[in-house]
Amino acid sequence: MSRSFVFPVRAPTRRVIVRPAVWADIEGMARVAVDTWNLTYDGILPKAYLARMRLHSQESQRSRMMHAHGVHHFVTVEPTAGEVVGYASCGPTRNGGGGVPGEIYELYVQHGFQGRGIGRRLFRAARDQLAGDGHESMIVWVLSDNPNLGVYPRLGGWRHAKKTIRVGGVAVEETAYTWRLDRA
Ligand SMILES: CC(C)(COP(=O)(O)OP(=O)(O)OC[C@H]1O[C@@H](n2cnc3c(N)ncnc32)[C@H](O)[C@@H]1OP(=O)(O)O)[C@@H](O)C(=O)NCCC(=O)NCCS
Repeated sequence: MSRSFVFPVRAPTRRVIVRPAVWADIEGMARVAVDTWNLTYDGILPKAYLARMRLHSQESQRSRMMHAHGVHHFVTVEPTAGEVVGYASCGPTRNGGGGVPGEIYELYVQHGFQGRGIGRRLFRAARDQLAGDGHESMIVWVLSDNPNLGVYPRLGGWRHAKKTIRVGGVAVEETAYTWRLDRA
């Protein structure tokens, strides 16, 4: 897919682009993942587990995902420094999709850029991609203790299910939100 979206963020002179990710974005996406996990899940996931998160293993994981059939990544790049400050990944649902065919796997915006509409833009890009791929609905799984859980109802999601998973050796609850998708 070759669409890109350009929109102003807070200061009108600063513009941020949401576009499909390319290989050169992998390091930036990995950095956003490590930083946001450590800030968001402190006190929710074990400290030792978060401390073990490494940039290179996140890069490897994202490289594998870039190869996976039907998986798409979108990034937001801050144009002045050229840094990735947010990303979303989506594709066919993974285990536990509860009969929902499409999934947004990840949606992360770097701390200093949150609350400016970037998450909504990334979400829309992923949702439109899944709709364009022919998925009739999509799901997002969120840790129930994530302080940002409330974002998903704001983005039109319906609470669908809960499940318990193990992360870093502890049991944590996840909540799923779903959306019906119109064909693009
Ligand atoms: C969750 C996240 C992706 C949202 O991105 P964002 O750029 O901060 O969100 P936006 O500014 O686009 O806001 C989208 C909507 O959610 C609302 N919102 C933002 N943060 C919220 C919060 N913590 N709780 C409830 N609603 C929130 C906004 O008001 C907006 O709704 P509106 O347009 O109807 O007013 C981002 O904050 C983030 O990466 N947080 C840390 C990691 C994380 O929790 N990721 C999700 C893992 S599943």
